[in-house]
Amino acid sequence: MKNDSNSIKWPVITESCIENVNCVLKSGILTTKNKRYDLENSFQEQFTRQFCDFLNAPYGKVVPNGTIALVIALLSLGVKENDYVLVSENTWIASISAITLINAIPVLVPCKIGNLLIDCESIIKLQRKYKPKAIIIVHLNGFLQDYSKILHDLKVHNVKVIEDCAQAIGSEYKNIKAGTFGDIGAFSFQESKVLTCGEGGFLCTKDIAIYRRICLYQDLTYAQKIPMGNNEMYLFGSNYRVTEQQCALLYSQFKNVFLASITEKDIWAKKIINLLNFQKNVRSVDIDRNQTVLSLFKIPVIFYSINEKEKFLSFLEKNSFSYYNGGKPLYLTNIFSTGRKSLKKMHYKRQKFNDYNIQINQVGIFHYYFNQNTYELLKNYFTKNDINNSEDGYENNSYFIKKQL
Ligand SMILES: Cc1ncc(COP(=O)(O)O)c(C=O)c1O
Repeated sequence: MKNDSNSIKWPVITESCIENVNCVLKSGILTTKNKRYDLENSFQEQFTRQFCDFLNAPYGKVVPNGTIALVIALLSLGVKENDYVLVSENTWIASISAITLINAIPVLVPCKIGNLLIDCESIIKLQRKYKPKAIIIVHLNGFLQDYSKILHDLKVHNVKVIEDCAQAIGSEYKNIKAGTFGDIGAFSFQESKVLTCGEGGFLCTKDIAIYRRICLYQDLTYAQKIPMGNNEMYLFGSNYRVTEQQCALLYSQFKNVFLASITEKDIWAKKIINLLNFQKNVRSVDIDRNQTVLSLFKIPVIFYSINEKEKFLSFLEKNSFSYYNGGKPLYLTNIFSTGRKSLKKMHYKRQKFNDYNIQINQVGIFHYYFNQNTYELLKNYFTKNDINNSEDGYENNSYFIKKQL
């Protein structure tokens, strides 16, 4: 029989979520297009202000999902058909599809084995070769690293920077939030994410001109409350509006679920990563010591053999965990072989992925399991399976360990 004592219900729907959504339904004002819609007092506006204040970004826009957020980001930065766009090769497919959706050409940038994040040296080489218009840097799993030098170089070469923060909502590097280092931060509020309304997305920027274009693309050129301007049409937008129900849910989730749990999740994430990094036959990733908040989407557990991974998966099943089961690197999946034939032009340039096994031997533990119970279960598992190398070292604050493969 399955022991489901460890299963955590996600998403968490609080009373205030239900109250606020009910309030919208009772008002009958479901969209911005309702003539009784009061933008200033809307949940959309309140959430946008709340989230922008949190990020420390002056401008933000709620959109239907994270993929669309990336598409709008590319369009707003002036990326056009046949422009090259660099993108982390180790990511969810949406970071790459957003580029192909506007007929630009993705150039996959290798990632580092230690933290699974984009390799800055490769960015420099590929920038020289392809002269890209933009780059999408993916903060995979919620981890950050030092981008200061590369951001400076990219600026010199006028390469626009989009941060894909779908998996890094609330993560901080040197006390600065993910999404505010580059030109645009793009977020996902899809159901599994740390802040959610089922399906949703967000864009933030510090640049008013970029914000103006985001508004125009998001709302069929007639965007409301565009700063410095009127409703004059000067580009063809689309309908990427969201409903008030979605925003009411986001508004309530932000404080009562997301903010309420961020510190505790950060503490347990560090403990779990530390525990994993002290095992002999398994590892997680290196945490950069300047990452001041770990608001992770998941923790990668990387095994050295597929058998160890399979054993671990049975253990997770027995304990009713839902988990990410790592597969092939994206460039080896069907979409990159068959999808290519159906396109007139070559829509991607493939680089060599640096480690196939890292991807295939990976299991991801989602953020809603970052708690003491999970920590104890994992500790117990690794002790019982006799692959425990030493005590975990969190207590002596040494969780920044580099492990060689
Ligand atoms: C890295 C990354 N980028 C983009 C997205 C796309 O977000 P959405 O599912 O909201 O479209 C996701 C979703 O999981 C993601 O993980």
